[in-house]
Amino acid sequence: MNSTKVKERIFLSSPHMSDEGYEMQYVKEAFDTNWIAPLGENVNGFERELAEKVGSKAAAALSSGTAAIHLALKAAGVGEGDIVFCPTLTFSATANPIIYQNAIPIFIDSDYETWNMSPKALEKAFEKYPEVKAVLVVHLYGLSADMDKIMEICKKHNVAVIEDAAESLGTYYKGKHTGTFGDYGIFSFNGNKIITTSGGGMLVSNNEERIAKARFWATQSRDQARHYQHSELGFNYRMSNVVAGIGRGQLKVLDQRVAQKNYIYEFYKRELGELEGVEFMPSNKWDEPNYWLSSMVLTGKVRPIDVMEALEKENIESRPVWKPMHLQPFFEKYDFVGTDVAEILFENGVCLPSDTKMTDEDLERVVETIKGLF
Ligand SMILES: Cc1ncc(COP(=O)(O)O)c(C=O)c1O
Repeated sequence: MNSTKVKERIFLSSPHMSDEGYEMQYVKEAFDTNWIAPLGENVNGFERELAEKVGSKAAAALSSGTAAIHLALKAAGVGEGDIVFCPTLTFSATANPIIYQNAIPIFIDSDYETWNMSPKALEKAFEKYPEVKAVLVVHLYGLSADMDKIMEICKKHNVAVIEDAAESLGTYYKGKHTGTFGDYGIFSFNGNKIITTSGGGMLVSNNEERIAKARFWATQSRDQARHYQHSELGFNYRMSNVVAGIGRGQLKVLDQRVAQKNYIYEFYKRELGELEGVEFMPSNKWDEPNYWLSSMVLTGKVRPIDVMEALEKENIESRPVWKPMHLQPFFEKYDFVGTDVAEILFENGVCLPSDTKMTDEDLERVVETIKGLF
């Protein structure tokens, strides 16, 4: 009989409710008042509190980050046949809504300084496609893109900017929250994000009128009439009052989660950063990341697959860096502007477990497993 005990699983980034039970208080309030839907005080409160936290004038709570990107594109006037610049190194949820709008994504390479959209490649893309309608910028793994340079280029061309800050709630670029530089910003609260509502998203903007319009689209575009009247295509994209209650509670512990993610990153960097061929994700003096996922690139003999397999044997979750969109079977027919930076990051990158519930013992387990390969 095999008596080997399976070690407890260490997750990449799993839901972490507050020790204080804040989420349950808000959810209970919704139940006690029989106001679990539609909308309600938790939705209004979550919108208000998140907008205040990131420094935006208005916010719309939605069913997902993907829905938020979709409505941001619509609010920016992106429609059939329009070109949208999008980083190639991202999750497919950034690019999919461009297709929902029957628009055309053009993928832009990363740079090594930020892992995010390369301002140089962006300039080249403007030369090639001056008629572009909007630029989608992503702050990957909680690292901010170089927003000064990107905003300067986009302003020069007078084009709308949407920030996909799904992974970067709690990240500041030069003291300003990511997601608040462009015309629209979006956040995600899916299960693996730094705070979660089990699923959900938020659209933010300083343009209160456009946020009101997004709320209208998100509730089936019901015109103001006693009967059911619709002059525009509608969507069922609003967040429920129960889900928003979880969000309000989670928002109270966001700073704690950022501090813990920072601790995890520093722990790995200290223990693994000196190993041959190991390079951690970039750090820039203007960036205060939320360290959503601690990630590294491996340039020596030990390959990402070796690390991921060794960790999996120890019941520890990890994952590769996103596979670039221009290399995806679904998206490869669209143009790509850049060189091989995103591809190299994909081929050499690995995301380490960054779960805020990990103890020092868990972190040691991860570190010792990886050190064993060198
Ligand atoms: C970069 C990025 N964009 C968009 C999304 C989509 O968010 P959601 O899962 O809430 O739709 C995610 C996360 O899933 C993401 O990581």
